[in-house]
Amino acid sequence: MHLLAFSLFAGFVAAESGLAAWLRYAPLSGSQHLHSSLPSHIVALNSTVGSPVYTAGQELHNGIQSIYGKQCNIHHGHWDAASSVVVGTVDEYTKAYGPLHNAPTLIADGYWLSTEGGTIQILGQNERGALYGTFQYLSMLAQGNFTKVAYASNPDAPIRWTNEWDNLDGSIERGFAGPSIFFANGVIVNNLTRVSEYARILASIGINAVVVNNVNANASLLTPQNIQGLGRIADVMRPYGVQVGISLFFASPTSAVQGQANLTTFDPIDESVVAWWTNVTDQIYEKVPDMAGYLVKANSEGQPGPLTYNRTLSQGANLFAKALQPHRGIVMFRAFVYNQLNESDWKADRANAAVDFFKPLDGEFDSNVVIQIKYGPIDFQVREPASPLFANIPQTNTAIELQVTQEYLGQQCHLVYLPPLWKTILDFDMQADDKPSLVRNIVSGERFNKSLGGYAGVVNVGTNETWIGSHLAMSNLYAYGRLAWDPTSDPTSILQDWIRLTFGADPSVVNTITQMSLESWPAYENYSGNLGIQTLTDILYTHFGPNPQSQDGNGYCQWTRADQKSIGMDRTVSNGTGFSGQYPSAVASQYENLATTPDNLLLWFHHVNYTTILKSGISVIQDFYNQHYAGAATAQTFLTQWQSLKGKIDEERYTDQLFRQSFQAGHSLVWRDAIVNFYHNLSSIADSSNRVGNYPHRIEAESMELDGYSIYAVNPFETASNKTAIVTSSNTTAGTASYTLTCGSGTYDVAVNYFDQYGGNSSYVLSINDKTVGNWTANFRPWIGNTEGPRVLGHTPSIYLDGHSAIRVTFSDVTIAMGDVLKIVGTPNGVEKAPLDYVSVLPLGVVD
Ligand SMILES: *[C@@H]1O[C@H](CO)[C@@H](O)[C@H](O)[C@H]1NC(C)=O
Ligand SMILES: *[C@@H]1O[C@H](CO)[C@@H](O)[C@H](O)[C@H]1NC(C)=O
Ligand SMILES: *[C@@H]1O[C@H](CO)[C@@H](O)[C@H](O)[C@H]1NC(C)=O
Ligand SMILES: *[C@@H]1O[C@H](CO)[C@@H](O)[C@H](O)[C@H]1NC(C)=O
Ligand SMILES: *[C@@H]1O[C@H](CO)[C@@H](O)[C@H](O)[C@H]1NC(C)=O
Ligand SMILES: *[C@@H]1O[C@H](CO)[C@@H](O)[C@H](O)[C@H]1NC(C)=O
Ligand SMILES: *[C@@H]1O[C@H](CO)[C@@H](O)[C@H](O)[C@H]1NC(C)=O
Ligand SMILES: *[C@@H]1O[C@H](CO)[C@@H](O)[C@H](O)[C@H]1NC(C)=O
Ligand SMILES: *[C@@H]1O[C@H](CO)[C@@H](O)[C@H](O)[C@H]1NC(C)=O
Ligand SMILES: *[C@@H]1O[C@H](CO)[C@@H](O)[C@H](O)[C@H]1NC(C)=O
Ligand SMILES: *[C@@H]1O[C@H](CO)[C@@H](O)[C@H](O)[C@H]1NC(C)=O
Ligand SMILES: *[C@@H]1O[C@H](CO)[C@@H](O)[C@H](O)[C@H]1NC(C)=O
Repeated sequence: MHLLAFSLFAGFVAAESGLAAWLRYAPLSGSQHLHSSLPSHIVALNSTVGSPVYTAGQELHNGIQSIYGKQCNIHHGHWDAASSVVVGTVDEYTKAYGPLHNAPTLIADGYWLSTEGGTIQILGQNERGALYGTFQYLSMLAQGNFTKVAYASNPDAPIRWTNEWDNLDGSIERGFAGPSIFFANGVIVNNLTRVSEYARILASIGINAVVVNNVNANASLLTPQNIQGLGRIADVMRPYGVQVGISLFFASPTSAVQGQANLTTFDPIDESVVAWWTNVTDQIYEKVPDMAGYLVKANSEGQPGPLTYNRTLSQGANLFAKALQPHRGIVMFRAFVYNQLNESDWKADRANAAVDFFKPLDGEFDSNVVIQIKYGPIDFQVREPASPLFANIPQTNTAIELQVTQEYLGQQCHLVYLPPLWKTILDFDMQADDKPSLVRNIVSGERFNKSLGGYAGVVNVGTNETWIGSHLAMSNLYAYGRLAWDPTSDPTSILQDWIRLTFGADPSVVNTITQMSLESWPAYENYSGNLGIQTLTDILYTHFGPNPQSQDGNGYCQWTRADQKSIGMDRTVSNGTGFSGQYPSAVASQYENLATTPDNLLLWFHHVNYTTILKSGISVIQDFYNQHYAGAATAQTFLTQWQSLKGKIDEERYTDQLFRQSFQAGHSLVWRDAIVNFYHNLSSIADSSNRVGNYPHRIEAESMELDGYSIYAVNPFETASNKTAIVTSSNTTAGTASYTLTCGSGTYDVAVNYFDQYGGNSSYVLSINDKTVGNWTANFRPWIGNTEGPRVLGHTPSIYLDGHSAIRVTFSDVTIAMGDVLKIVGTPNGVEKAPLDYVSVLPLGVVD
């Protein structure tokens, strides 16, 4: 056994787009002497091009050549030679080589990998399993890991799917990486190269199906042309063992789909409706004989469903189950069913909805129905308790829905490594019937003895070569697959495999990205919404920047119930919404009681005074202040940590991520200031450290000398420093804001907060004594360092001056003398009137 030392991983310089993700197979220089440890022959026990085992053979060939520069011969039948790697199903291996001794116990998709002995064996229970084992072996080789191994690996759950919220017009709901790789202009695209590349990436982490269209589905997916297109998608994914699934629009029978009959009803028990869906399902299976199944969002957020006809949700789900059953397809039926509620009712609670709707139906779902449950009872918030529905329908198959796309968590413009969040849910013990009942053992089917169950991850890849919009965010996709395969794996070691595969094994690269990633979710929670209050983003608009008051006063029931004295949702049984009582008794009594509720979920379960003292000994409001400051301070270090990697990874990916970390450093301050000012304003309780509302290095734009600029009251007020910004008085003529500096002579960092609205590209020039310090354009391509590039922040844009459009740039090491005149000239463009909020002149090392 030998392990490569770091010295082999000499620096690489080639620019990389991210397209190859973690399957780069980057050359390991100086590895010639290892050729003898590598196979010389590849025996792939299937000669059919496009079979996963054939694909595995190709992958081994290309991987070994790319990493080590060694050419192997590929054979497709029995081949006896020392120094070979044999890949195939256990059955084919047995036919070719005789029975395997110590035959491992494998279930569907599982594999046996042995690098002991003269012949390397990669044997799947099925073809897909053989391909998964191949990717594991190649992962070791790409990391220079020559440890001898011999082990069987089986998936924890059969359902390991992604969901893509792609619309047929090519847009993607909550997608942050450009348009769809699947659809454009109402049909499936002709060129499916990217789909095939995506399937390869997914196969390498054990994902076995992709639901290709949005859960808010469109009936026109079911035209004959689109059904044929689904067949083409299936054909390019099949070589990787990835199946197609689709989302359905419940009212399709009445939607006048071109090429299909048009009914007057979509009542799920009407015979004509049953026949309609049977017919359409049969048509699909003619083109996609191995379709995985359907995903259905019904009676949710305006979608039609069985309740429209006073039928039960189980009648709705079983309609599809029966049409799919002869084809062995399954129905993923989403539990995200709720009605709008009125906040004036203290006991109203959307968190109750899933259990209220589904618990009475336990036992009524067909055996090929799986209830797909979001991890928490509300909606992918930065912290939620595990959905109690997992413990309430023991006779029903369940799957957990996770989001790889960071809808509420920074939209790939903030680094947030999600597996530690996911683990809080997967490892949560529901204690159903007072027996150990970890969520991961419920969704695997083990706890309640179900044969179906698993994972659905909302990914929303786009045409951007980074796949989801940011190089570092891809660790979430990688980890999603690894956890769906084995939810007991450690998020840190998954992350480090990903880093070595993606950026190489330089220990400083591995350590730095590990530290940034592991600190990222706690930091984001701290500067967005801590203590279980939820993300505090704008839930009515973009889901991106801060807008705490948007949580209340509407029917969505993500309420904070914050007033001048108190905050939090009273979800107790004794005096509140009763939600805590939906958990099995041991958990219920823990959450019912303020004293036993963990601080990080306090405001989720209890309505308390701002002055209530936490277990930490600090008051609720002071903890809010402290954590928002701490979280934003940590986000500043992500930038400096990333900068320490300059020259250690390729320039292309380095620069792109530098841009994102600069943005996050600034936007974390936007978040911090908005949230603490909002609650400071509401509670009138001072920050004991006197930070909130007190910014000694800030020059408010409204207090500068203005020429051609006017004062503008920003709404929500807390998203602008001192509630106000300035905008040019005309939308065609530039404005100037100047200020005579009173700071002592020296070197400073100058930060400028402005707003980058959708619908205009204003430009700005910052100067000191008319000498330009920097210029930039507000076009989602902010100035970074000295490079100007076509870099796009993929988050949902805003047409307003608010917490989404607020953005901060910093110019470092600016020389200033007392009495110098700082000037910003802003030139409006389109609807955007060169908005400015403030300038901070910061002694080096200070951030405010
Ligand atoms: C080879 O792959 C094809 C296509 O996946 C499959 O139909 C066939 O059964 C496989 N052959 C063997 C011998 O496994
Ligand atoms: C090498 O791979 C094996 C098998 O996956 C793993 O157990 C071991 O930790 C790896 N070694 C290193 C140094 O990563
Ligand atoms: C298909 O798409 C791939 C990936 O985007 C591209 O490289 C290729 O040129 C395209 N092929 C055609 C025929 O347009
Ligand atoms: C099909 O049904 C829809 C909804 O009921 C209706 O609006 C449309 O006119 C119908 N089209 C045809 C061709 O019957
Ligand atoms: C589906 O219904 C159409 C008529 O609307 C009919 O022509 C077709 O044969 C049916 N297809 C199947 C697979 O039953
Ligand atoms: C469903 O039931 C409600 C009340 O029971 C009734 O008002 C409504 O008309 C019913 N709707 C249908 C489509 O039967
Ligand atoms: C798309 O990819 C390019 C190249 O990696 C990058 O510069 C750009 O910022 C990305 N765009 C989005 C929306 O993520
Ligand atoms: C109990 O509920 C009422 C509203 O019904 C609320 O005003 C009150 O603050 C709650 N009491 C406690 C102790 O939380
Ligand atoms: C909250 O403060 C009010 C007075 O404003 C007090 O009556 C009440 O007991 C406090 N509640 C808690 C839980 O401390
Ligand atoms: C805050 O804004 C108000 C109203 O525009 C202005 O009068 C005041 O000077 C500003 N405060 C500072 C510190 O600039
Ligand atoms: C900065 O100024 C230079 C020179 O006037 C100009 O060419 C460039 O486009 C400006 N950059 C931005 C981002 O406005
Ligand atoms: C300037 O504002 C006016 C009035 O709002 C609008 O009609 C005009 O189109 C704007 N000009 C530009 C260049 O957007």
